Parts: sequence; structure tokens; C-alpha cells
Amino acid sequence: MTPLKMHGSHILSTGSAIPDICIDNDLLGTILDTSDSWISTRTGIKERNILGRDQSIIDLATIASKKALTKGLLQAEDLDLIIFATSTSNDLFGSASQLQHALGAKQAAAFDITAACSGFVISLIIAHQFIQTNVYNNILIVGADTLSQWVDWSDRTTCILFGDGAGAAILQKNQDNDILSFEINTDGSEAHQLCINHKRNFQQDTKHNNLINIPSNNYYQHLRMNGKEVYKFAVSKVPESIGKCLKQISMNSKDITWLLLHQANQRILETVANKLNIPVEKILSNIQFYGNTSAASIPIALDEAFDAGHICHKDIIAIAGFGAGLTWGSMIIKWHINE
Ligand code: COA
Repeated sequence: MTPLKMHGSHILSTGSAIPDICIDNDLLGTILDTSDSWISTRTGIKERNILGRDQSIIDLATIASKKALTKGLLQAEDLDLIIFATSTSNDLFGSASQLQHALGAKQAAAFDITAACSGFVISLIIAHQFIQTNVYNNILIVGADTLSQWVDWSDRTTCILFGDGAGAAILQKNQDNDILSFEINTDGSEAHQLCINHKRNFQQDTKHNNLINIPSNNYYQHLRMNGKEVYKFAVSKVPESIGKCLKQISMNSKDITWLLLHQANQRILETVANKLNIPVEKILSNIQFYGNTSAASIPIALDEAFDAGHICHKDIIAIAGFGAGLTWGSMIIKWHINE
């Protein structure tokens, strides 16, 4: 049997979108027993943006995707696959097909990935497999979440952390491979630490002696989180995971140009950097402006850092996502700018 020839992939372009409505910490202080000083000291967040009444997650994802297509000099018809990483889909069956339609990406297959704040990293890894095995050439990966719809706005321990947004990246087949290493993990025994549970109710079935359970008034509860446990999980598992990725390619933390972590909390970003002996100047962070945008946070930060001219050709970037599930995963990439 002829061995399978593996192809390389690289990130061709990125895009992002943030909704217009900005809620800063002072405004939150007028509706909750909290303050700018508490939130910014504990989390690094100063403000976050949330979806307006007449906007949807698909609107945000479409804007981010169109920007990535324009920057990559591609048309929507050039896309072979769309992977939509979201945990706040506006349809339980998935939203990727709506995004495909909004973009006019008629040739592209499309599906959703639900893996909370690790969703973008996991989707990028899946896309990489399709390219390595020569199935597809151009794949759009979108991370988008609108957790503002799912948090309890009277719970100061959770709602202050989250914001809405979308980020996109196009992964393209390339002669050189710039996805240098990756690994993903799950610990389902800790799923209860961060969740949005489904609440099942049943109608009384008096006619049939309660033999038939007819579901009635089912709904999802608000986001619930054990902040301390999630914090401990992130600062212990993420450095370990990045360490494993570096080991796979015989690199060490000194080789990293940029550390790009899921933007959950500035203290988490700095503790992870310290554990890996990476100077804090190498952390890419925009958390003060957007809070935790879940699956969108990594591609938004990547897009902004590239547009601002921070990321250069051949830079080595360590990326890690972590969150509900619990899930976490990392990858090391080499940034590639087409000549
Ligand atoms: N404003 C003011 N006070 C608040 C508050 C708020 N928004 N939220 C909590 N407090 C209070 C608590 O009630 C508690 O008061 P008490 O001491 O009188 O009981 C006190 O502040 C300390 O709360 P605690 O929960 O111990 O704070 P903390 O230092 O653990 O910080 C988090 C809380 C949420 C910022 C922190 O645990 C965290 O960032 N965890 C990770 C969360 C995360 O990133 N989740 C997403 C992962 S994808």
C-alpha cells in the first residue's frame, strides 16, 4: 500500500467582529454590587461588548468571515469547508449552515463544533487534518459566542467575565507545514465546574398511569461556574499542555515569540506565562476590551495582533484554549506571510 502523503497547512488570513453595545465596569456597578476596581484587579477586564436586539451570532460570524476572505484574497466559493465553533448556536441543530448561506459559500460543507472556549483550537486542529490528508484546500474556521444571552445578569460572580464576539481564520494547503504540533484533552468528571445545563420537565400523564413521559417546558439554565476550581484547572493544565506540544517538536519556551491563550482572565494569562518562564511582554492580550468571548477570543486576539503589526513572518506562536467540558488543548504554529 502506498503511504499517505501528508500535506502542510498555514493560516492564510484572519478576521474579527465585535458587537456595538459596550458595557464597561462602571455601568455594571450601577446594576450589580460590584466595582471597576474589583473587576479589573481580579480579571484585567475593563469592558465587554454584547449583541444588540436586532443582531445575531450569524451576523457577527459573517462579518468576521468576510474580513478573513478579503484579506486572504479569496471568494466565498473558494471555501471547501466551514467549521463553526460555538456553544451559543441559535439553532440546536447547529448554525454552520446559516453561516454558509449568509456567505454564499455554496461549495463548502459546514458543521458546528461545540467545545466552549477550546472550540477554536479544536476546530483548527480538525481543519488541519482535512488539509494534511489532501481532502480540502481552503477551510474557514470561525469561533463565535454570545454568552451575554446565557449568563445570569444578576450574578456578579459570572456575568462580569463574559462578552460577545466572533473571530475567523482561513487555513490553506501549503507546501510547508506551519502547524508544528498540537494536543487536546478532556476531563468530563469536572464538567459541573462550568456548565449551562438543560432542565427537563415532564407533563403529568394521568391518562396512562404516568407510563408515558411527555416532555414539557424544557429549557437551558443560566451559566454556572465554580470560579476558583476553573482558575486552578487553567493554571495547572495549560502550561502542561503547551509543554507537551513544545516537547513533540524539540522546542522550549525560549523559542516562543508569542503566547496566545484563551482570554479568560489576565491573572490566568500571566500565571501560565510565569510557569512556562515566558516573559509577560510576550503575552497577546486584549481582555481588557472584550472580556471572555469564549470560542471567539483566540481568533479575535490573533486578528488584532496581526493587524497591529505585532506578529511577523516566521514568528512562533503557542496557542491554548481551555474551558467548559472541561476541555483544553494547545498548538504551536509558525506564522507565515505570503510573499
Ligand atoms: N464584584 C465584587 N465582589 C465580588 C464579585 C464582583 N463581581 N464577584 C465575587 N465577589 C466577591 C465574592 O462574593 C467574595 O466575597 P466574600 O469574600 O465576602 O465571600 C469575594 O469577592 C471573593 O470571591 P472569590 O470567588 O474568592 O474571588 P476570586 O479571587 O476567586 O475571583 C474569579 C473570582 C471569577 C475572578 C476567579 O475565580 C476566576 O477568574 N476564575 C476563572 C474563571 C474563568 O476564567 N472562567 C472561564 C474559563 S473559560
